[in-house]
Amino acid sequence: MKAIHFDRLGGPEVMYPAEAPRPELKPSTVLVRNRAIAVNFADTFFTRGEYIVRPVFPDTPGMEAAGVVEAVAPDVADFKPGMRVAYIGMGAYAEFTLIRRSRVIPLPDFMDFEQGAALPIAMLTAWHMLRTLHAVRAGETVLVHSAAGAVGIAAVRIAKAYGARVIGTVSSADKADFARRHGADETIDYATQDFAAETMRLTDNRGVDLILDAVGAPTFAAGLRCLAPFGHSILYGRAGGAPGPIDPMRLFERSLTVSGFVLPQIYNNREVMRRGLDDCFRLIREGKLTVPIGGRFPLAEAAAAHRYLLERRSVGKLMLTP
Ligand SMILES: NC(=O)c1ccc[n+]([C@@H]2O[C@H](COP(=O)([O-])OP(=O)(O)OC[C@H]3O[C@@H](n4cnc5c(N)ncnc54)[C@H](OP(=O)(O)O)[C@@H]3O)[C@@H](O)[C@H]2O)c1
Repeated sequence: MKAIHFDRLGGPEVMYPAEAPRPELKPSTVLVRNRAIAVNFADTFFTRGEYIVRPVFPDTPGMEAAGVVEAVAPDVADFKPGMRVAYIGMGAYAEFTLIRRSRVIPLPDFMDFEQGAALPIAMLTAWHMLRTLHAVRAGETVLVHSAAGAVGIAAVRIAKAYGARVIGTVSSADKADFARRHGADETIDYATQDFAAETMRLTDNRGVDLILDAVGAPTFAAGLRCLAPFGHSILYGRAGGAPGPIDPMRLFERSLTVSGFVLPQIYNNREVMRRGLDDCFRLIREGKLTVPIGGRFPLAEAAAAHRYLLERRSVGKLMLTP
């Protein structure tokens, strides 16, 4: 089968198309023929050896895709060949991927493969921050950093569906248009403006109730300046570098909360996982949640897709087509 390999750590240049044996079934696994493979920012950390899972060479990047079940291990009763599924799991940049049964999600008829591939990480990350770590509701204002990105735009859609006012930060005018077209009430170009001062201006000096931050060093500490009393800031990534320590006294002064979020822990909790999936499916069915596809690349051009993401040119979700 065709797959993307890398056998040294580095940026997009270390990835190359390769011929690889089709994975063999192991107990409690499902073999999926990938139809749409999502590119995640974390894939760029993985090739550099900076992700929580370390590569074993030669390794294959990718952690989110959708496709059709090709075969199942004898101890797997609830999936059958031919079923449409999405999954979270390593090795997605390939024609076939072997996935633990517990990481496979049946795909409803109303979702195409690309939306399916954007569900297990992008949509569920946004949903669980807004609804599990926080309980976003009408009347709240949410500041979503990198709002034109995949998780960012999913968060904009979900926060809007729950009646919140959404301010999105972006690094260009095109991204501002994109975020507004997909639901953001206001946008701030944080490359050229002091986003915290601008947020205070937009909220009549009240500040926001919730900040979703995967940019990190350039935004996390500054964000505390524009949180309303009892405001909550969630750190879930570090595209701009890891943030430095913060002084707890800054939280004490206005009853602020900071928290962190990482998705794999949700997958280990069946009840919480089920709640997120059921509500995302409802929002998708009602036309309130989609992740726009901002670019499609053939699987063999995975390196070009990574460059596009790292150069901050992408909006929405990038897809690889096997
Ligand atoms: N904790 C979790 O479980 C979890 C799960 C999924 C994703 N994440 C994190 O969430 C973030 C978004 O992931 P995604 O896959 O949806 O990617 P994405 O948002 O589509 O792309 C990353 C965005 O980060 C922004 N950015 C800011 N500083 C950057 C820099 N120095 N270099 C490159 N980009 C920069 C860019 O938007 P602007 O140009 O508008 O600034 C870029 O579009 C990532 O940081 C990812 O690691 C975390």
